[in-house]
Amino acid sequence: QRPIHRLLSCPGTVAADLRREEQTSGNVETGSADRLVQKRFSEVQKERREQAQRTVLINCPNKISEKKFLKYLSQHGPINNHFFYESFGLHAVVEFCQKESVASLQDATYTPGLGAEAAIPFRSRFFSVKLKTAENQPSERSNVCCTNQSPPTSRKIFELLCYAESIDDQLNTLLKAFQLTEENTKLRYLTCSLVEDIAAAYFPFCAIKPFGSSVNSFGKLGCDLDMFLDLDETRRLHAQKTSGNFLMEFQVKSVSSERIATQKILSVIGECLDHFGPGCVGVQKILNARCPLVRFSHQASGFQCDLTTNNRIALKTSELLYMYGALDSRVRALVFSIRCWARAHSLTSSIPGAWITNFSLTMMVIFFLQRRSPPILPSLDYLQTLADPEDECIIEGHNCTFTGDLNKIKPSGNTETLELLLKEFFEYFGNFAFNKSSINIRQGKEQNKPESSPLHIQNPFEISLNISKNVNQSQLQKFVELARESAWILQQEDKDRPSPSRNQPWGLAALLLPSVSNSKFLDKKRRKKPASERIKNLLDSIKGSNTENSRNTNGK
Ligand code: GTP
Ligand code: MG
Repeated sequence: QRPIHRLLSCPGTVAADLRREEQTSGNVETGSADRLVQKRFSEVQKERREQAQRTVLINCPNKISEKKFLKYLSQHGPINNHFFYESFGLHAVVEFCQKESVASLQDATYTPGLGAEAAIPFRSRFFSVKLKTAENQPSERSNVCCTNQSPPTSRKIFELLCYAESIDDQLNTLLKAFQLTEENTKLRYLTCSLVEDIAAAYFPFCAIKPFGSSVNSFGKLGCDLDMFLDLDETRRLHAQKTSGNFLMEFQVKSVSSERIATQKILSVIGECLDHFGPGCVGVQKILNARCPLVRFSHQASGFQCDLTTNNRIALKTSELLYMYGALDSRVRALVFSIRCWARAHSLTSSIPGAWITNFSLTMMVIFFLQRRSPPILPSLDYLQTLADPEDECIIEGHNCTFTGDLNKIKPSGNTETLELLLKEFFEYFGNFAFNKSSINIRQGKEQNKPESSPLHIQNPFEISLNISKNVNQSQLQKFVELARESAWILQQEDKDRPSPSRNQPWGLAALLLPSVSNSKFLDKKRRKKPASERIKNLLDSIKGSNTENSRNTNGK
């Protein structure tokens, strides 16, 4: 039997969805040759936002008949798409074909009486469905199939990796297991859209847009949801041309700086979320940070959200990373593995501090891929030369122009395998002159460090800034040591392992083991040679395969 949502679906949109599904699940087996015709970042954002605006979130009783539920909802209009998931109870995401259906559903919904407590009557798109009578026919019981929104467990990952056929296969497997699913992406856009409804109580023309790893193609299941409150629509209205001799301005309150304006705006939105945002809990206003933000948990979606405003460059950075992620299928596979490797060794942390961030690691991988011969990724300067007039973008005096058209960029002729790239990544950064050089993806070349922070990664748009200023010497040292150790492990495997073993962690799985409590497998190998010899061999191997002899590490 065909599911109801397919029968009711609008022609065209399902096909578009399927195309998108093909693109997101993509063919990750090979390099750049199979690149699909890809959408611009702005097109994806626009489509997803529009889709989210016709979507509702519904808390459901566990014993719900999917068929009856969809039949009931389709009284308000045809349904394009739906799925169920668990987060503090069963929830459904239901996407109507038309926005009007949402209003119709809202009109047919009532605000509950809560007995001893009082309800704040806020008409949101987050509903709760109750059964008038319990469904008790056996066939009607909880027949819904839930989609998974959580990252795979470490155990599952090790299993998958040990059963892979090659290191290349391991990197692609890790990517497939961790990347955001179509449903998770929909839920992220929907959550932004629900928060937008709340923010619109104060700023009717605002938009809440996701940025960071939720949209830059490097997001892992379970990553935070970075949101940007865009008030530009309100501002743009001021600039519209009017005829005649009159210029109309809104009467506004003024404050002494942009930062104070940002703090005031976020402060009231934080209050709104706290007071009448359904499912928004643990609201914290972190207004004195360099980039003021409101942090909260959106319980129903399970996302930890960071809401900022006046942070347009971060949105542009997300677009740039999206471009890099889409240019060659090896990029995302390598970034995911490096991020997992860093997390497994506590090089990154969810707590802010002197650690390397996922964002910095992504920039390091992009830079490394720009340095290959031939390069796998172009420099930002090159992307700027391909820009059309419509791509021009200056934000607060910073030139953020680059082409948004992926189809303008010729695929790389580099055919290196992921296995080789992983090994070379560790050797490259295990031997990088961090004491002298800055990582610069704008030029795609190392530059002299302009200041003395241990790790210098130039902000691609605000070029006087270092995105890894927070990293201290000991964290950098730890990164370098682990990179060297990982390069060594991969090199030993080349020599010692005749074929992949399913019983012992090998390849990428061996690299994800915490180095202090290494598996017997690695310990055994180490015991074969004294430590001094191991280190000597490691250094020799790194020197031997390194083409840039002039680099040294950390001034040692
Ligand atoms: P996750 O760890 O998966 O959340 O990765 P992320 O890329 O989303 O990182 P995070 O949530 O820390 O930051 C969100 C976005 O803010 C990043 O993607 C960047 O665009 C931007 N960002 C984060 N840190 C910095 C920084 O130090 N400097 C600049 N310029 N932008 C940053
Ligand atoms: Mg993030």
